[in-house]
Amino acid sequence: MAARQRLGVGIIGAGNISSQYLKAMAAFPVLDIRGIADMKPEVAEKKAAEFGVQAATVDGLLADPGVDIIVNLTIPRAHVAVGLKAIAAGKHVYSEKPLGVTFEEGKKLVAAARRKGVRIGAAPDTFLGGAHQQARAVIDSGKLGTIIGGTASFGVPGHEYWHPDPAFYYDIGGGPVLDMGPYYITDLVNLLGPVKAVQAMSLTPAKERPIRSEPKKGQLMKVKVFTHVTGTLQFVSGALVQVSLSFDVPKHTHKPIEIYGTDASMQVPDPNMFGGEVKLAKPRAPEWDDVPVKLPYADANYRSLGVADMAYAILSGRPHRANGDLALHVLEVMEAFETASKSGQIVKIRSKVERPAAISESLKRGKIA
Ligand SMILES: NC(=O)c1ccc[n+]([C@@H]2O[C@H](COP(=O)([O-])OP(=O)(O)OC[C@H]3O[C@@H](n4cnc5c(N)ncnc54)[C@H](O)[C@@H]3O)[C@@H](O)[C@H]2O)c1
Repeated sequence: MAARQRLGVGIIGAGNISSQYLKAMAAFPVLDIRGIADMKPEVAEKKAAEFGVQAATVDGLLADPGVDIIVNLTIPRAHVAVGLKAIAAGKHVYSEKPLGVTFEEGKKLVAAARRKGVRIGAAPDTFLGGAHQQARAVIDSGKLGTIIGGTASFGVPGHEYWHPDPAFYYDIGGGPVLDMGPYYITDLVNLLGPVKAVQAMSLTPAKERPIRSEPKKGQLMKVKVFTHVTGTLQFVSGALVQVSLSFDVPKHTHKPIEIYGTDASMQVPDPNMFGGEVKLAKPRAPEWDDVPVKLPYADANYRSLGVADMAYAILSGRPHRANGDLALHVLEVMEAFETASKSGQIVKIRSKVERPAAISESLKRGKIA
């Protein structure tokens, strides 16, 4: 019998982000989309018609022997419940970020998959993008010397300026850390390795915030999370990275990520994107030098690259990169920002993770091995 070339994919959650997945999956022939489902059938039907795929029900996808991987694009608070159902049905699961809204529930998901012998994958997969892999290649080449530290900065005035229904960003499970932290912390772990401890101080400057976008303009939202979060990550390597994640910043000029080594500094572009500029500067250099981005997956939005990598990994029996252990480690670090802020103590990180394998320069578009 010929070896299988493709795996069946069932998508659960047909909201906002599903369009990006459906569009990007077309670049990866290894993914055979069998159907899309949502708790609101009309939402799934509309999306299915728009992208020329089959509308399905959640139970239908879980019972379909042709579905190997469930791609879980539901809201954060449903990620673990939907993931556990899919695992029980014997499916591999790839989940949008965050893996869960607490470390405890994330652990349950990873443990269930291990018991069942199926894979867990999780967003973000932007760290597999060409610009971030190029930054990783710079670090691995030793050009920065020993990594001493760095910064990671995300600051906006709040999603209430553009999102039509932003209240969930300020409810439990929301906030800048669980929303944007996965991009920044996953990228940092890909670059520097695992985190050992977290120190943090945070604020909730307003207990209520007005919606500033239509159609709910003027309505007040309750704020139940820290919205201005600052802290320091101590990596197992010894490096110290200052992190700031905030919904209380009118405007700023910080680069998303900077890494400082004994021999050079590096700018890393927005970890919410696959491409962007990588720059390097030696001590006292008057200007930053561009690092040409030669690695693939830098020129477009490849959201689903992590699913494709997982599918190839399943077919060939190798580890996949955007994996459950990585997402669980990132979730523990994110939770530690809150624990450390509330207790005033340094929080030690218990989970262990390896840096995922780098993507080599020779790989061809549409295939990652
Ligand atoms: N919107 C974005 O720009 C964006 C970007 C990156 C990541 N994400 C992540 O993607 C996920 C989804 O975000 P979104 O913006 O698409 O949200 P959304 O609210 O637009 O869509 C979520 C969909 O999931 C469905 N759903 C919820 N619970 C379900 C359940 N138990 N079973 C079946 N269907 C269920 C909802 O009916 C809804 O249609 C989130 O984890 C978010 O963090 C979103």
